[in-house]
Amino acid sequence: MKESEWKNAVVYQIYPKSFNDTNGDGIGDLPGIIAKLDYLKDLGIDIIWLSPFFPSPMADNGYDISDYQGIEPSFGTMEDMDRLLFEAYRRDIRIVIDLVLNHTSDEHDWFKESSASLDNPKRDWYIWRSGDGNGGPPNNWRSNFGGSAWEWDERTNQYYLHVFDKKQPDLNWENKDMRKAIYQMIHWWMKKGVAGFRVDAITYIKKNKEFPSFEADGSDGMVTIDKGSLNQPGIKKHLQELKEKGFRHDEVFTVAEAPGVPADEIEDYIGEHGFFTMLFEFDHVDLDLTASAKWYEMKEWTVHDFKKPLFDSQRRLQEGWSALYIENHDQPRSLSRFIHEGFRHTHSAQMLAAVYFLMKGTPYIYQGQEIGMTNVEYPDISSYNDAVSRHQYDYALANGCSEEEALAFIWKRSRDNTRTPMQWDDSQQGGFTEGSPWLETNSNYPEVNVKTVKAASNSLYTFYQKLIAFRKHTAVAPIIEKGAFQALFEEDDHIVAYKRTYENQEITLYANFTAERVPVSFNEENRQVIVSNNDGLGPDSLWLEPYDFVIFSNVHYEW
Ligand code: GLC
Ligand code: CA
Repeated sequence: MKESEWKNAVVYQIYPKSFNDTNGDGIGDLPGIIAKLDYLKDLGIDIIWLSPFFPSPMADNGYDISDYQGIEPSFGTMEDMDRLLFEAYRRDIRIVIDLVLNHTSDEHDWFKESSASLDNPKRDWYIWRSGDGNGGPPNNWRSNFGGSAWEWDERTNQYYLHVFDKKQPDLNWENKDMRKAIYQMIHWWMKKGVAGFRVDAITYIKKNKEFPSFEADGSDGMVTIDKGSLNQPGIKKHLQELKEKGFRHDEVFTVAEAPGVPADEIEDYIGEHGFFTMLFEFDHVDLDLTASAKWYEMKEWTVHDFKKPLFDSQRRLQEGWSALYIENHDQPRSLSRFIHEGFRHTHSAQMLAAVYFLMKGTPYIYQGQEIGMTNVEYPDISSYNDAVSRHQYDYALANGCSEEEALAFIWKRSRDNTRTPMQWDDSQQGGFTEGSPWLETNSNYPEVNVKTVKAASNSLYTFYQKLIAFRKHTAVAPIIEKGAFQALFEEDDHIVAYKRTYENQEITLYANFTAERVPVSFNEENRQVIVSNNDGLGPDSLWLEPYDFVIFSNVHYEW
């Protein structure tokens, strides 16, 4: 994909397991995605990012891959995949796939060989160590999914390292043969016709080779694995090689999931000679977490916590490009998390969409975001599938929370909030399946579903459609692509506002990010209101009602 193409593109993320089931087994599938391509075309998106669809024991819903070059049988076949690539291409939609390179499943053949014996040729493809000599693991690193990051394997009496679940052993990026096998796999997918990759958890691939224990940061005596495994010195050598030998040429679209990159190193990642096309940043979505990332210690957030990291990132990007998002499969639904109860309607959802869509970068829409899907509240932890939620629930109980309190944190933060089945219509199970879904459908599907939302006047769906078209309009695209970014009302703790300027053209957005009525004075004489979710707003208005937004411009545009 050429730079000019992805710079004007909008990406739609599909979580295959939850998108559309065509054979009644309760599991979304590739034919189900093909059946909805016209829906996506109508929305106006250009690129689909497909979360993993490879064979997997599903300990982490496909992020535990047991064969990089196959298709999970419950999702379909390789013929289905080829058909999806073709049918998407025919509609001018490109497919970007998830590359999970930090780890595989423990059921991958590579790991089966590696774990078989100490002298197996693939032994060194994973990270094996003996215990600490006192019957414990090699060090005190805590995995991201809870518990020790080391798992004992009695076949060879050693431990293997896993940053995530124990069914996700980490690959050893110091091993050249392993890296070569990864690059070949990447070439194979490129030859098949994928346009690019979303590169999973990539800042974890380099480990501190000494594997030292660090001072504990929790009552479990352990320390977050980030200390020894996140963005470690030496990682850039691996990333440079991945770019040169894996992606090979500049026309491959790559978006990195790259937590932990310090602001002053971002240029290395996405600058002109950077490792990736763009990367996901996290501060604006992790605004309710403390450093320990424990959900039972969640903190109150302010409008500053949301806008400051976004604005800082926009200002930092000179040559670079951003991946703009407010939802994905690891985050709660944006309506439930950013908007006060009682205000979670089309009006506020339109404001959320407008706020991130006019920044410099490529906007991502997560399935269901375009119809205002919300968090789910299962009455019991047993209904949850997400491994992280179950660990977090246990942490909360172990730290003195009652079951009700622990559950309340899961309601807020669970990754299942965005993994519930897509709501297509008001028929049983929201039209996702004729069987019983792998994860319970959100009970609000009779009101919140594609069919009902699309039929409503002034709907959220139509708004996204128009917002996408707006970004791409020839008079507007250069402002979005090249325009300078200027934050407005920066100290204000209610309003999110910014201006984009290119040559003598401007677009300005003002949004009230709170449930209060706030006074405002625009500086927009002679400017046209392009669109607002409050018809009464104009350059002379004095107030923004809760969650109002307005976009002004000196470019003429018929919304
Ligand atoms: C990424 C994915 C997440 C997954 C983890 C391990 O953070 O987005 O869903 O659990 O990597 O692969
Ligand atoms: Ca199915």
